[in-house]
Amino acid sequence: MNSTHLRKCLSLFATGITSIVTKNKSKFIGITVNSFSSVSLNPPLVMWCIDKKSSSIQDFVKNKNKYMIIFLSRNQKKISNQLASSSNKFDKKFYKEIISNSLGYLDCAMYKKISAGDHYIILHKVIKCKILSPKSPLIFYNRKYNS
Ligand SMILES: Cc1cc2nc3c(=O)[nH]c(=O)nc-3n(C[C@H](O)[C@H](O)[C@H](O)COP(=O)(O)O)c2cc1C
Repeated sequence: MNSTHLRKCLSLFATGITSIVTKNKSKFIGITVNSFSSVSLNPPLVMWCIDKKSSSIQDFVKNKNKYMIIFLSRNQKKISNQLASSSNKFDKKFYKEIISNSLGYLDCAMYKKISAGDHYIILHKVIKCKILSPKSPLIFYNRKYNS
């Protein structure tokens, strides 16, 4: 199968956008992800996939850190772009900005990682969830933001 054609076809599936954030010592590390999905209510499990070539692989896969999965709102395109670049380390002020304009978030712990081709499937157990005041979501469709 032609992978360019496959990517084009997969881009027909519209998704929301999440910022997945963890901490290494005092530094925050974040990555923009649209492969997020809910998996189970009992126990509460969610999943996302990370490219094995990601420069953040150590922070997201090899450590047993706590994770936060933040659902972005339509006015957070800039944050999505920033966390999709390789300069994805940031300070507490920026972290607070991601949270305060988001739709809500999950506090998670690592549950399991599964190797799947060129990605890892990361399963997290949800420890806490927070719904913030209602806003419209940031949508990704056909390789473009579509809010
Ligand atoms: C809309 C969007 C969705 C993305 N979804 C994922 C994803 O699900 N998994 C992933 O590993 N990378 C995803 N990426 C790419 C990473 O955000 C980005 O490559 C990474 O944070 C920076 O590259 P690096 O980790 O190789 O330095 C996505 C990027 C964008 C713009």
